[in-house]
Parts: sequence; C-alpha cells; structure tokens
Amino acid sequence: MTARLPVVVVISGSGTNLQAIIDGAQCDLPIEIRAVISNRPGVYGLQRAEQAGIETAILDHREYPDRESYDQALIALIDSYSPKLVALAGFMRILTADFVRHYGGRLLNIHPSLLPKYTGLHTHQRVLDAGDSLHGASIHFVTEELDGGPLIVQAQVPVEAGDDANMLAARVLQKEHQIYPLAIRWFAENRLILDENGDVRLDNKRLESPVLFTPLESIG
Ligand code: GAR
Repeated sequence: MTARLPVVVVISGSGTNLQAIIDGAQCDLPIEIRAVISNRPGVYGLQRAEQAGIETAILDHREYPDRESYDQALIALIDSYSPKLVALAGFMRILTADFVRHYGGRLLNIHPSLLPKYTGLHTHQRVLDAGDSLHGASIHFVTEELDGGPLIVQAQVPVEAGDDANMLAARVLQKEHQIYPLAIRWFAENRLILDENGDVRLDNKRLESPVLFTPLESIG
C-alpha cells in the first residue's frame, strides 16, 4: 500500500474543492491532510476542515505590510506541517516568486477556465461575454507566471443558452471537484511529476497537452 502523502491545503473561501479533497482522503485517496490554511478568517472552508478533524490555521494577509513578508510567513507556517504537496484550492492571492520557487514541483492550483484562456479573475463572466461555447477548469503546477504553469488535467463543460455566470460556475465546479482529487491522486501515487525541464510527466510519459478529463479517468 502507498504511504499517505502529507498535504497542506490553502484556501480563501467556501472550500468546495477542499471538501472534495477531504472526501477523497476519507475514502481511498492516499493523502493525509495535515492542515488547512486560510488567508481569510471566518470562511466556510475552515469549518469544513474542523468538521473533518483537520487542523486549521489563519494567516491574515491584512496583518502584513507587503506581499513578500506575507509569503515568507506563509512558507514558515506551511513548512511547520512538513507537507510533500501544497494544494491551492481557491486561494485568491498572487504569489511571490520566492514562494513559488520554494515549492517548485510540489505546488498545485485549480483554475476555473480552460487555460491558457482566461487567466485571472471573473472567468465565467468573461467566457459568457466572449460568446464561447466551451468552458471548463484546469489543474496545473504553479510557476512564477500567474495561472501559467504546466497543465496537468482539464475538464470541459458546455456553455448553455440562458446561462449566467453563477450557473456556469456551478457547472464548472462540479468538474473541479472531480479533477482536483484525480491530479492529487496521481501525485500521491508518484505517477505525476514536474521534471527538470519543466515538463509534466504522467506515468513516465511527457504530457504534450493536458489530460482531458472524462469520467473514465476517475477510476484510473
Ligand atoms: C474555484 O472555482 C476555483 O477554481 C477558483 O476559486 C473557486 C474556489 O471555490 N480559483 C481561482 O479562481 C484561483 N485563481 P471553492 O472555495 O468552493 O473551492
């Protein structure tokens, strides 16, 4: 049996992706969530963690004079849990280069768009405004380029007539909850790495493009 991978999850909000990861860990996802850290006090994701008996910590960015000092404090806090993987799950802050380099190859993020399209905020509204017929979510390794790190897996959803941003977000979130535990599983099972050339390798093969999630992958 694979040893459980120690993971720290970093959030800013309601934590539905965190919940999907917790649910996985309570089933057969081979990870141990050592802590959930939020930059915002009082968010629902912290309650989700507490309900699951997971240690929580708040590191409020408003108490730090600048991004560098905040990120250094965040590194110290995360490292106190000795994780082998750090999963950003709706963490709504731009990270410094020092932070990203510190966790090179063991920092994952989820983003609500089919990257490289729609980096940044308000992705669902921007997809609607552009009249796209396809939208989705991406899991990627984090690098210094905002939402620009090497892609691992994506899931697509159709944009339907009459959608507003909330409806579209809900459809995308359902997929997010499937692909994040999947990518974490691959990492925990040592099947997924970011190699020295900055390429993603899954099962020892370089990914030319992200895996396109279809429900069959969920049992892979
Ligand atoms: C998710 O849609 C996630 O993809 C997005 O925030 C939401 C968090 O929801 N992340 C980003 O936009 C990162 N730039 P959750 O708190 O319910 O998991």
